[in-house]
Amino acid sequence: MNTSFDICTSLIRKAKNIIVLTGAGISTESGIKDFRSKTGVYKMAPEYILSLDYFYQHPVEFYQFAMENLYHPDAKPNQGHKILAKWEEQGRVQHIITQNIDGLHQKAGSRHVIEFHGTMKTASCLNCGKIYPAEEMEERIQTMHDFYICDHCETKRERNRYIKPDVVLFGDAGEWFTKKGFQSILQLIKHADCLLVLGTSLKVTPFSTFPQYRSQNDPMIIINRDETPYDSLAGTYVMHESIGKILTQIDRELS
Ligand code: APR
Repeated sequence: MNTSFDICTSLIRKAKNIIVLTGAGISTESGIKDFRSKTGVYKMAPEYILSLDYFYQHPVEFYQFAMENLYHPDAKPNQGHKILAKWEEQGRVQHIITQNIDGLHQKAGSRHVIEFHGTMKTASCLNCGKIYPAEEMEERIQTMHDFYICDHCETKRERNRYIKPDVVLFGDAGEWFTKKGFQSILQLIKHADCLLVLGTSLKVTPFSTFPQYRSQNDPMIIINRDETPYDSLAGTYVMHESIGKILTQIDRELS
């Protein structure tokens, strides 16, 4: 193995408080497309579709795209998800902060997961907050014309009571985007003894700023097929490899 692999294995072996940052790249081995690699979702459609503006202007087309490309109820966790859950059990991984909305970390058994960009599991009325499970939205889409309008509350303008999936869209903000939410994430990162970044291009703010908050003398490990803007930073160890393959090999060395 190359030095990066040996160094990463020894860093993970020693670490007791790993904070993991994940993106769509950890779920591609579960059959879920990522966004920006050459086979990503944005090769078929512009980022703009996943914006709050587009949701309000074209709710039907938005839901068609979202249910087809972002909702994967039958997807299974892969080796990468499972090993992170095992390392949490062993006291190595403290918390996962994910951009993913597929729920696969939780399905693999990880208990400390922050879904920074929300979840596709539920949708909520933007007026009264009524929660609609994704299964119910699937049903409504099949049987109702104005499926995206809440029928639990009343407003003068229908668009004030649209039902939006509980994901963070471009131009939107999520529950972790408050000062308090952001601060609690920065605290986790500051107290980490190793930052492990898996399957993200680190191109979308504010998530992509998180690596800047790690304590300078703590190492960062990046496992990502494509390059990221952080690859050449000091104290950063990079492997442009498959996450499943590398985590499996590191885990084998640890056991
Ligand atoms: N192993 C390692 N790396 C992989 C694998 C794999 N099996 N599969 C894909 N990758 C890498 C790709 O090379 C790519 O650089 O994962 C990265 C995924 O990057 P993006 O597609 O940009 O996904 P992500 O970083 O999660 O996007 C962030 O953008 O569209 C918004 O809200 C959406 O949460 C998403 C955010």
